[in-house]
Amino acid sequence: MSRWHVVNGTLLLTLIALVGLNLVLHRDVNRRNVEFFPEMVHPVPLESYSSSGVFANGSTLQQPPEGTVPRGYTPPRYGPGEDQAELAGQSLHNPLEITAQTIERGNDLYRAFCLPCHGADGGGMGPVAMRGYPPPPPLLAENAVSLPDGRLYHIIVYGQANMPGYAAQIHDETDRWTIVHYLREMQGVETAGTGSVVTTDYVTRQLAQAGVSAVENTQ
Ligand code: HEC
Repeated sequence: MSRWHVVNGTLLLTLIALVGLNLVLHRDVNRRNVEFFPEMVHPVPLESYSSSGVFANGSTLQQPPEGTVPRGYTPPRYGPGEDQAELAGQSLHNPLEITAQTIERGNDLYRAFCLPCHGADGGGMGPVAMRGYPPPPPLLAENAVSLPDGRLYHIIVYGQANMPGYAAQIHDETDRWTIVHYLREMQGVETAGTGSVVTTDYVTRQLAQAGVSAVENTQ
């Protein structure tokens, strides 16, 4: 017998022994394998949602101290609720100038965050509403047109009735006001404090694509 026969024979026997052992032991495939050197697998720090004996309340994650504000974050001046929405409507004014860029950015934001429910034309039949979400009232209707800018801002932050707030998704204040300008453009409403409406070609084109004419919407 040559040396290679011995090596091959040994390998074959080992394989048969391992397969046999595997069958006999009925390894539970749902269980974790044996871990070698698991140091990098299990983190040393506490898991965010685990309990901890370090703090008096027994949690690892702690509330930020009262009255603190994260860097770069401007807390909204008004809280949720109808009274606060009313106040926001009276005292908040859109600080942004309307430019073609503002409107283009507003269109991007609208399409990302509002269109799913309100629809491309603001009519209230966005894809989410068409699949059973309570359809919102048309944004180009009299009621929405009559809401002051500050109130629109408040709705973006806190929502209203069936509409959830979008403060977490649209956390930049400028972006929120940009959407307010965009809504006004869609509605063809003059924005207080910024002079005249700039119904840009861009908006007219967007609305035309959605099958509405900007002039119709002002009624
Ligand atoms: C999840 C669906 C949904 C999304 C997304 C959504 N809305 Fe709404 N929105 C609603 C519903 C539903 C209402 C009606 C609330 C009510 O009954 O008062 C509404 C109401 C409004 C109103 C008040 C209209 C009126 O006549 O009272 C405005 C303004 C508005 N939304 C703006 C926005 C803007 C701006 C965005 C994007 C930042 C947005 N919505 C995103 C569902 C949504």
